[in-house]
Amino acid sequence: MDREQFYATMNGEGTLDYELYLNTKQLLSCQKDFHDFCNHDELQFQIVHQVEELWMKLINYTLLDIDDYLQQENTNRVITLFRRVFIALRLMTEQLSLLETMSPKEYQEIRVQLGNGSGQESPGFRTILKMPAQLWKSFRTSYLERHDLTIEKIYNTEYSHSDAYVVAEALAEFDELFQRFRYCHVQLINRTIGLGAKSLKGRPVDRMLEGVKTYFFPELWEIRNQMTDAWGASYGVVRESLGAH
Ligand code: HEM
Repeated sequence: MDREQFYATMNGEGTLDYELYLNTKQLLSCQKDFHDFCNHDELQFQIVHQVEELWMKLINYTLLDIDDYLQQENTNRVITLFRRVFIALRLMTEQLSLLETMSPKEYQEIRVQLGNGSGQESPGFRTILKMPAQLWKSFRTSYLERHDLTIEKIYNTEYSHSDAYVVAEALAEFDELFQRFRYCHVQLINRTIGLGAKSLKGRPVDRMLEGVKTYFFPELWEIRNQMTDAWGASYGVVRESLGAH
């Protein structure tokens, strides 16, 4: 195969309606020129990061709509849109594994290209981190306070699988899937540069493990502890074996 000829045609002319609507000319020029890659893994490295940014753009845009619907208590819309967010988050997590097809040495070659860039500078990620406080405020005001409810009531003493409960579980799932992304990202780092290394900002990489333990909605996790303690109080921390009687 004549590579040069192939490279020349890969991006298309950008003149057909499909190309114009999707702006393929610009989209396919967002990666380095084929001749400028430091090795054959760098195209994948750029594309994975760029696609991740696009998923985060969609997630953030959708979370804004979810926030409006939370304020309107439009549960059907909230749940459908959260489903979209969950699928995008799973895709974000799943596609990290593409980068595990790159050897540690090939990543070191790419790393030289990155200046002191860090994923912490990602506009999509920084925006996602800002969203949960607002979502929680809207949920609390519309689904709890407006109805004289609490997390404890909807999960335990007044549990009825209500709209408030279903929305709370969607928030918990968002939290969990985001943690899963962070966890898989830490595993990817471990596999590529090692958790004992320092980041391009000179920070110890294992500090990333802190992020994995941070929850957006701690109250939704705390209720589970409280319920286990409260219910456990009736039968003790360690129970007799079922076969004891
Ligand atoms: C081989 C692949 C990768 C390596 C070796 C890697 C490595 C790292 C390291 C060392 C940090 C810590 C930076 C610091 O202390 O400032 C970091 C942070 C980050 N990276 Fe990656 N990364 C990789 C792929 C990705 C991909 C594909 C994404 C896609 C979104 C990503 C997103 C992030 C984000 C959002 C942070 C900040 C996370 C936080 O503060 O919790 N990384 N990465």
